[in-house]
Amino acid sequence: MGETVREIWSGENGPRERGDLEKVRDASDIVRIVGQHVALKPRGREFVGLCPFHDDHSPSMNVIPAKQIFHCFVCGTGGDVFSFVQKFHRMEFREALKFLAEQAGIELTPPRQTAGGATAGGGSEISRQDLLKASGAAAEFFRAVLKRDDLGAAARAVIERRGISSEMCERFMIGAAPDRWDGLLLTVRSKQLLPQAFVEAGLLKKREQSDGLYDTFRNRLMFPITDQLGRVIAFGGRRINDEDEPKYVNSPETRLYKKSGTLYALHQAAKEIQRAGRAIVTEGYTDVIACHQAGITNAVATLGTALTRDHAAVLRRMCDTVVLLFDGDQAGEKAAERAVEVFFGEAIDVRIATLKSVTDAKDPDELLKRDGGRELFQQAIDQSVDLLEFRFARLRSRLEGAGIAALSRAIDEEVARLVELGLKDVPPIRQKLIIRRLAEVSRVDEATIQRAIPAGRSAPVRASGQSQYGPGPSDDTERLPPIHTAPLTPAEHLLGCILCDGALFHAMEASERDLIAPGAYRWSLLSRLAETIAGLGESGSRPDLAAVLAEARDLTTKDAAVSLASRIDVETDRDRERLNRHWRECLRRATLERATTVSQEELAQRIELRRTHIAAGGDRKVLPRPR
Ligand code: UTP
Ligand code: MN
Repeated sequence: MGETVREIWSGENGPRERGDLEKVRDASDIVRIVGQHVALKPRGREFVGLCPFHDDHSPSMNVIPAKQIFHCFVCGTGGDVFSFVQKFHRMEFREALKFLAEQAGIELTPPRQTAGGATAGGGSEISRQDLLKASGAAAEFFRAVLKRDDLGAAARAVIERRGISSEMCERFMIGAAPDRWDGLLLTVRSKQLLPQAFVEAGLLKKREQSDGLYDTFRNRLMFPITDQLGRVIAFGGRRINDEDEPKYVNSPETRLYKKSGTLYALHQAAKEIQRAGRAIVTEGYTDVIACHQAGITNAVATLGTALTRDHAAVLRRMCDTVVLLFDGDQAGEKAAERAVEVFFGEAIDVRIATLKSVTDAKDPDELLKRDGGRELFQQAIDQSVDLLEFRFARLRSRLEGAGIAALSRAIDEEVARLVELGLKDVPPIRQKLIIRRLAEVSRVDEATIQRAIPAGRSAPVRASGQSQYGPGPSDDTERLPPIHTAPLTPAEHLLGCILCDGALFHAMEASERDLIAPGAYRWSLLSRLAETIAGLGESGSRPDLAAVLAEARDLTTKDAAVSLASRIDVETDRDRERLNRHWRECLRRATLERATTVSQEELAQRIELRRTHIAAGGDRKVLPRPR
């Protein structure tokens, strides 16, 4: 638990590897790294954005370049650039280090080869890393096949016929699965890769009778699905022969791949989505590719599922408008209906666009390949309708010519539905606009609608908070105690002061050290933090926030450190003089408390006394006197 970087990097290469870590830290600006995934706006000398670690609706996450930290004042998550990458991408420390090193173009000192082989752990357990490796190797294999004269000919013909440019083939890493049962299998064997990893990734399957294996994807055009970093995590394989069923074979969900949280082409589109402040969500792989080929590079697609709240959460952090583009049949209307449920109350504008309104082309792919298709496509986007307007327009057509009773029932129902979806949790201005719009549509005055809203706060209908996939505290981190909001004890204040100014640790008298000793806190997490601070201090360093972040490896310890330091920063207005005053005051209070605190035994004794008192029929309100 309290494992520190020092321990991790100990051994022959220790100092050199530690040097690596510092080099990577220095080269990885936190604003740039966080900004790749969260739209950040400058505020003073800091930046703010929507926190990706809770269901955030107004920017709660601060990124502080001077300290190279991030911190959410609502959920309390915080840390340095390594913490962010680890949490956001659910990486282990080494993975994050490697990832940041790659981005910065820093070559890491190769880790010492542990005896027994290349795979970490050495056992038969398949790690996430193994799954990533397998998916990556498969993508390379499919690409090589596509380029082969013989094996790739049929797939190349499809690409040609559909007019997919070679630039798009590269951008989307399109490949081909050969028309045989053992194409990938032979490669796995000859390259001595881990067959089990390919099985778990859904790329190879076990034969029923024997323990042999065979390829999942045969004779298909292969579309790799990547995570936001561009790492391959799954595949969609489109049939090459029209007789083959189904049209698409898709990878199963794995530890790497959850359909409901993944958007096809998000990696390729992320930059433009952020720049434009808008994302276009289409329905298929080929539609996305056609969009990008036509220069519409903020297009992504869901993967054969309806849009979920997880998708919404990903998009919400990157832009403020999402256009859902439907091919335009009943399915589109149904999907729009569902989208209301997914997006209602989210601080993001959602617009519905249908192709049907501008063309008879069946999907964006077909439209964009026609002459003038690009313009018609743009027209469909320009004519997109706000999600609620879309919903209200349908309500209005239902209300057309309705009698008084039917009218009032329909309005009541609509209001009830909106309340169920969280109308009362919607920010006041937006709420007002929604009510006004509903009033206009139904030709009833606003006050009447307002009266139809039941009093009291609504019960949140949706499982708020943590998305089931994507960024979030990784599975192995514990729940954070409310260090960022709960009132702090004097000892906790002291710890925070030290984080703001490490010299304070050394200014303490030896007799005062036990005021901040592990065990002086309500949460074991803070005891661990205190241990790290004491360790650093006793070895002669200044145990301030930067030192603790560099030393601690455990993500929650880093969280706690950032939370505490931020609170003290706020309370002392980052003023040295006020910090010193605060420090002295807390020292005084902590010392006083130590003198007067009842010991644990005494406390236990009192509780026991009270119990027997009540059991004996004594008055509950009267505390018996300790003898
Ligand atoms: P479409 O049938 O519209 O396919 O399904 P498409 O991508 O436009 O392909 P082309 O243009 O006809 O070649 C839309 C999406 O639904 C999912 C895929 O994600 C596809 O891109 N889908 C469709 C499947 O997963 N399986 C299927 O059998 C069909
Ligand atoms: Mn289609």
